[in-house]
Amino acid sequence: MEKIFEAYQRVGDYAELYDEMMTNSGVFGRAAMKIFWGLDDYSYRKFLKQTFAGIPEDFRGRLLEVPVGTGVLSLPQYEKLNGAEIFCVDLSDKMLAVAEKRAKKLNLRSVKFIQSDVIDLPFTDKFFDAVLSINGFHVFGDKVKSFEETRRVLKDDGIFCGSVYIKGENTRTDLFVEKFCEPQGFFNPPYDTAESLRRRLSEYYSKVEVSKIKSFAGFVCVR
Ligand SMILES: C[S@@+](CC[C@H](N)C(=O)[O-])C[C@H]1O[C@@H](n2cnc3c(N)ncnc32)[C@H](O)[C@@H]1O
Repeated sequence: MEKIFEAYQRVGDYAELYDEMMTNSGVFGRAAMKIFWGLDDYSYRKFLKQTFAGIPEDFRGRLLEVPVGTGVLSLPQYEKLNGAEIFCVDLSDKMLAVAEKRAKKLNLRSVKFIQSDVIDLPFTDKFFDAVLSINGFHVFGDKVKSFEETRRVLKDDGIFCGSVYIKGENTRTDLFVEKFCEPQGFFNPPYDTAESLRRRLSEYYSKVEVSKIKSFAGFVCVR
């Protein structure tokens, strides 16, 4: 946990590079997306689409995003969600600070930022209409508690959706994860395959849909 926290505090210091990779922009970002994650421009666009597939464009109600990171992928989407009350959570205050700055620039007034561990969310049971988790579950230390806690705060019929790294789809990506991301504290095993993710989500949710683009699975399910 300490190692993961420190790792993302460092990422917060180099947020521009991180954001370039996550948005597939700039020379570094596009090269990293292609070489390590196997995503070209076309598949990157599909990755984005599958990541946000669970949040309707006219979504209204309470939305939890955990972990928000620097908000580079999600905050621009929130410009369209006028009827939503959005809570963004992350463990790292440095990542959150970058996200808050971005939200101010985008003039997102209804978005709140909270520093918290995903396994101890400061919300009452069934508080949210939707929980969005982008690239979080391959990082979180205690996967089972993280699944349980995100489910606890979701209403009956609420939507749980997002994206996560899955192993077994691309040898180069799996090696990069094992030899670089894990030792640095950016990723934390065990990881699901597409099939084990589907099974695991089905233990907690109904109407489970899992899609995949290279080593990223998109998921949408209903509590
Ligand atoms: C790979 S980043 C993903 C951020 C963002 N969703 C994105 O796709 O750019 C992982 C994030 O998880 C956060 N994190 C790690 N462990 C956490 C925990 N236990 N609770 C909440 N956030 C956590 C890190 O601080 C980091 O910002």
